[in-house]
Amino acid sequence: MTLNDVSEVMGYAPLLVGVGLAVIAVWALVWAIRYLRADAMTRQSIRQAVRVRRTWKRLAQMLKLCATDRMPTALASLANTEGKPVKPRVLVPTLKVTHDAYGVIARAGCLPGVGLEQYQKAAPHLADAWRCTRVAVTQDEPGSVVIRGVRLDPLKFPTEHRPTGTVPQKAAQWELGVDEYAQPVSVDLRQVPGVTVAGLPGKGKTSLINRLLSDWAPAPWVQFACADGKVSAAYEGDYYAWVKRMFAFVGDDLEEANKLFQRLVDLRRKRSALVLDVLGVKSMWDVGASEKWPLVVLIVDEAHTYFRDHKGSDKRTKELAALAAENARLVEDLVKKGRSVGILVILATQKSTGDAIPTFIRDVCPVGLSFAQKTAEAAVAALGEDIRDWPDANPINLQDPAYVGVASMNHQSQPGFTRIRTPYVPDEYAAEIAHTTKHLTADPADLLPAIDLTKEDPGDDGSTPLAA
Ligand SMILES: Nc1ncnc2c1ncn2[C@@H]1O[C@H](COP(=O)(O)OP(=O)(O)O)[C@@H](O)[C@H]1O
Ligand SMILES: [Mg+2]
Repeated sequence: MTLNDVSEVMGYAPLLVGVGLAVIAVWALVWAIRYLRADAMTRQSIRQAVRVRRTWKRLAQMLKLCATDRMPTALASLANTEGKPVKPRVLVPTLKVTHDAYGVIARAGCLPGVGLEQYQKAAPHLADAWRCTRVAVTQDEPGSVVIRGVRLDPLKFPTEHRPTGTVPQKAAQWELGVDEYAQPVSVDLRQVPGVTVAGLPGKGKTSLINRLLSDWAPAPWVQFACADGKVSAAYEGDYYAWVKRMFAFVGDDLEEANKLFQRLVDLRRKRSALVLDVLGVKSMWDVGASEKWPLVVLIVDEAHTYFRDHKGSDKRTKELAALAAENARLVEDLVKKGRSVGILVILATQKSTGDAIPTFIRDVCPVGLSFAQKTAEAAVAALGEDIRDWPDANPINLQDPAYVGVASMNHQSQPGFTRIRTPYVPDEYAAEIAHTTKHLTADPADLLPAIDLTKEDPGDDGSTPLAA
C-alpha cells in the first residue's frame, strides 16, 4: 500500500463514519418512535426487554445456564506455542427477546447439558431476576426454548373485544381469550357435539356466549337457536339483540322449550336420514358446514330451568317433572347424535351438579368451562374429578371479583386445565352485528328436502331409535 492509497482511504473515513452514525441515528429514531407510540404497559415491557438483554450474560452464568468448553479450539492450540494450559471457554446461550403488553418473550438457545429441563428449573429464578409474576418455559423446536415471562397477571386484567363483523377465517373456531401467559386460546368446535359452561351468577357465562355469537354471526354457515331460562320473553333478556339472528328463541316456559327441543330433534333425525344423499358423506364435517347445511348451535342458558327435578304430588308439579325429564331426554339425543350432522349444544348453568345438567348429558360434552365456583364439589361437577389434582386451575380460586370473566377449561383431548381471561363484548357492538347479519337467519329445516320420518332413524352412535 502506498502512502497515496492510505491518504485516499483516510479521505473516505469521515464519510464512512457519517454513514455509520446515520444508521445508528435512524435505528435510534425507529426505536424512539416505537417506544413513544406504545401504550404504558408496552413501554414498561420494552424497558424490561432491554434490561433482560443487558443482564443476560451474567445471569445465565449465575443460574448455571452456561456450558464450559475445556477443549481448546484448533486455532487456540496453534497459537499456544508455550504449552501453557488453555483457559476453558464459557459458552453463554443466545437470547433473542421480544415484548408485548404483558411482558417479554425470549428465545434462548440450548447448549450441551443445558436444555428444556435446566431452563424449567431456572424459571422461578428468572421470574425473580426479570421481575415477572410468572415464567413458563416451553420447547417448540429442537435447539432452543421459548421463555415467556409475564410482568402482569393477564388473568387479572379485564379485556374488551370488538368483533370484526367479517366471516371468521376458520369454520367453528371458538376464540376464547388469553391464558395465564397472555397467549390466545381457541377451541376447534368442529366435531364437538356439546359444551358446558358453569359458574356462579354474574361471572361471565352469558358474556362468553355473547362473544361467540358476535364472532360467528356474520358467517352464513351457522344458524342459532336459543332457550334462555332466565326470561319469560325475549325482550327482557340478555339475548334480546340476538333474537333476529336466531331461527328460534324460547324463554323459561318448559312447554315452549320442549317444543323447541323436539323441533331440533326432528331436524337431527331428518338430517341423519338425508346426510348421505344430500352431502354424499356420512358426517357433515367431512365437507364442512355450508349455507345449505349450516352448523346449528343450540344455546341453553340457565339450563337448570329446563331440567331440574320438580318434587311434589300435585298434578301441575307432576306435569312439570315429566316435561323436565322429556327435555333432558331430547337434549341428550342432540348431544349424543347431533355431532355428525352439524348440531352443537352449548349449555350454561350456575351449578353443573346433576340436577342442573343431567350427568348423562354433561358427560358426553367434550368441552367444559367453569367460571368461579363456591365449593370444591361444584368445581368437580363442572370440570370432572381431575380438577382436584390441579389446584392452581380450580375455579374455587376464581371468586375474587378481579376474576369476573376468567374461566378454567378442560378439553377431553388434552390433559390438564387452562385458565382463560375472556374478553367482554359491549352490548352495542353485539347489537350492531346482530342487526347487520339478521338477513342471514334461516330455519335449517327449511333448507332440507321433504322426507317422511316415520320409519328411519339412523342415529350417530347406532343406539336405539327414538319413538316417533
Ligand atoms: N369477560 C368479562 N370481562 C369483564 N367483565 C365481565 C366479563 N364477563 C362479564 N362481565 C361483567 O359481569 C356481568 C355479568 O356477566 P354475565 O355474563 O351476564 O354473567 P352470568 O351469565 O355468568 O351470570 C356483565 O354484565 C359484565 O359487567
Ligand atoms: Mg347469564
